[in-house]
Amino acid sequence: MKTFGTPLSSHATRVMLLGSGELGKEVLIALQRLGVETIAVDRYENAPGQQVAHHARTISMSDPLQLKALIESERPHLVVPEIEAIATPMLQELEAAGVVRVIPTARAARLTMDREGIRRLAAETLGLPTSPYQFCDSLDELQAAIDGGIGYPCIVKPVMSSSGKGQSKIDGPADVAKAWDYAMAGGRVSHGRVIVEGFIDFDYEITLLTVRAVGADGQVETHFCAPIGHVQVSGDYVESWQPHPMHPAALELARHIAKTVTDNLGQGLDGDASNGATAGLGLFGVELFVKGDQVWFSEVSPRPHDTGMVTMTTQWQNEFELHARAILGLPVNTALKSPGASAVIYGGVEAKGIVFDGVAEALRVPNTDIRLFGKPESFVKRRMGVALAFDADVQVARVNAKLAASLVKPRAA
Ligand SMILES: Nc1ncnc2c1ncn2[C@@H]1O[C@H](COP(=O)(O)OP(=O)(O)OP(=O)(O)O)[C@@H](O)[C@H]1O
Ligand SMILES: [Mg+2]
Repeated sequence: MKTFGTPLSSHATRVMLLGSGELGKEVLIALQRLGVETIAVDRYENAPGQQVAHHARTISMSDPLQLKALIESERPHLVVPEIEAIATPMLQELEAAGVVRVIPTARAARLTMDREGIRRLAAETLGLPTSPYQFCDSLDELQAAIDGGIGYPCIVKPVMSSSGKGQSKIDGPADVAKAWDYAMAGGRVSHGRVIVEGFIDFDYEITLLTVRAVGADGQVETHFCAPIGHVQVSGDYVESWQPHPMHPAALELARHIAKTVTDNLGQGLDGDASNGATAGLGLFGVELFVKGDQVWFSEVSPRPHDTGMVTMTTQWQNEFELHARAILGLPVNTALKSPGASAVIYGGVEAKGIVFDGVAEALRVPNTDIRLFGKPESFVKRRMGVALAFDADVQVARVNAKLAASLVKPRAA
């Protein structure tokens, strides 16, 4: 983007978000601040991002025809996927036809929407270290994979799922059938394929936010944020902090893995970089497991990452601003402002139009802030907000973020 237009005029710079949850909402706010005209798409009305965009559209994004019709009628300059469950082959078609530019590329959106595409790319094409794994289509195949080398303990995940849905750990033979049934119930589409992964007994896990942005010479440069540590409960993030201290050798290896995978995902249609030097721009969340100096690639989001919400209090440019700037061809600054932490606020109730008590009490905890996402409906385990805290001591920030989160009390109205 060389020139920026005025929103709602014929010269507007128009960006469409596919998915308008809490992460998309923050990307939309960052875009709004740059005078970009925004179109927030989700599968339900009044999604968080739709509440802050110029235009709200509600469609089934996994339906290729609905997606095509919407993109052709809106004609955005950029299409920015925020979720995985999108008809990505259609995005590839539209990108190949020159109708849109997909962030970072349609190919990256497609490869990362199921665990098989990205795992085979990382482990088999790029030779990056990962957990041992196998894909299985039946309980018998799962048992055979475990007996044939994966061993116990191991983790089973539907190939199409996120936030830990359908995922469970198998400690011994008695758990296998249960894990299979759980995966079948939790997958996004019911085609019954799972990945079984050997359990990595890591010391800690990090998200390495990695940004591909255009440098002064017009070439794509890779920038890294400070490592983000996080805790996952049943495959869902509950708290994160930044920076997570790392041994220099492990950090170097982590950056090498992140650069290798994002360089590849930044390439165009068939994995060749010929569709311009500015292909594949944006921020990625690279998930890595670390034990001593050993680092394993786990997975990558070609977009802002939930654990990266901490950057709203720790960085001069948070991950959403970095994404917005990078995709528009602007320079980025990944510098840390202060150590800090985030803690998730869950709904705790099943109800529509809930209310939150204790917000003022939460904000009385030193150096804290909160985000309430504005989701129209709450579930017990739905992420409804996040508490943020900064402090020179990251451990103090963690305590304060968790305390602030605990003081916010969602309840049915
Ligand atoms: N092979 C493994 N060994 C040890 N722990 C694992 C393994 N795979 C997953 N985990 C744990 O489960 C968490 C979630 O796994 P993963 O990221 O693959 O699932 P997900 O559903 O994509 O989650 P999210 O969408 O929250 O990133 C990881 O962050 C890690 O804590
Ligand atoms: Mg993950």
